[in-house]
Amino acid sequence: METGGTDACEAIQALEKQYLIQNYGRYPLCLHRGKGCYVYDTGGKRYLDLIAGIGVNALGHAHPRIVKIVREQAALLLHTSNLYYHEYQGPLAKKLVETSGLARVFFANSGTEAMEGALKMIHSHGRKIGLEKYEIVSLENSFHGRTLGSLSITGQEKYRRDFEPLLPGVRFVPPNDLAALEAAVNERTAGIVVEAIQGEGGIYPLTVEYLRKARELADRNNALLVFDEIQCGVGRPGAYYSYLLASPVILPDVMVAAKPLACGLPLGVLVADEEAAATIGPGMHGSTFGGGALACRVALEFFDILEGLLPQIVKTGGCFRSELVDLARHFGFVKEVRSAGLMIGVELDIPGKEFVTGGMEEGLLFNCTHDVVLRFLPPYIITESEIDRAVDKLKKVFKKAAAHSV
Ligand SMILES: Cc1ncc(COP(=O)(O)O)c(C=O)c1O
Repeated sequence: METGGTDACEAIQALEKQYLIQNYGRYPLCLHRGKGCYVYDTGGKRYLDLIAGIGVNALGHAHPRIVKIVREQAALLLHTSNLYYHEYQGPLAKKLVETSGLARVFFANSGTEAMEGALKMIHSHGRKIGLEKYEIVSLENSFHGRTLGSLSITGQEKYRRDFEPLLPGVRFVPPNDLAALEAAVNERTAGIVVEAIQGEGGIYPLTVEYLRKARELADRNNALLVFDEIQCGVGRPGAYYSYLLASPVILPDVMVAAKPLACGLPLGVLVADEEAAATIGPGMHGSTFGGGALACRVALEFFDILEGLLPQIVKTGGCFRSELVDLARHFGFVKEVRSAGLMIGVELDIPGKEFVTGGMEEGLLFNCTHDVVLRFLPPYIITESEIDRAVDKLKKVFKKAAAHSV
């Protein structure tokens, strides 16, 4: 693949190959800077960024308000630990509570760490009722993170198999199968964990009936219902959280979020109702870095901007979707376009890898999940004209792939 192929990029790659643990399969592309929805490689080539750090760079790159806040806060106070108070955890927690419909917040540094907090809540909740109550029901095709706890409830064998034994008592059920869910949940169930829209699993939405059934079964069996909003939440679906799209709303007991919250700085959150929050008492959980002043202040600024962006996300998401559906009509290898706001998957019936590299050649960044689903998680600030440009370029990529596949 043409990489903008500078000596600088080759040197970067060589150093990483020598000194990094080789757990990532990176594309041969070295990024140097970004502005708005574009990033530039070390050779100066420009790419329209439709994956945005896997759903992290919600305000694109170098957003002027975020740059200003980072500069100001870096000169004031970066880190305090959680031994002391600072000015930003309280207001950010208030914002999270007001937007989520829940009551109390714990700050972590990543999605998987937020999920670990939720798993500890599930276990603590179960133990208070009885030692046999520790089972967790999770979904096939789900993804909840890479730490041992999150991995234990991730419903994809390929991520789990090298690290077993994992947490005991986890049952996986097929998504959107109400009867299977009903059969799996019982009085030993301490928690049910779901992504309302499975992200890594290929942008698969759960039905409202399924989410409602999960709520009903959690209530009936005194289990905590946890929604993983790490990929599908915080504005991406055109609402603050994807579970708010159902009418009437189905509230979880616990919600975890991360990716876009601090616009590229590490921040994960766990938000719980009063009862679930009470399962974690003094000394039972904590984090050295979690909820640092810089990340929290940036997240507050992000929420301030997000409020005005939500209607735009619905509009641009709808526009991107309909342009992709039109494009798909000309190519038999597209099986389905699935989306919620600016979370979009195009499922193919052939491998997607070549499309991703073809996109990079055309100056477009997106990725492929589940081998056959092209995934688009663009910045929330993307414009309709940028979407038009992206779809024109995708058309070229699709045409090339069609020529290869005959
Ligand atoms: C739904 C979901 N849960 C959890 C995670 C893990 O988050 P992190 O990589 O920040 O630990 C991810 C990451 O992609 C995710 O998509």
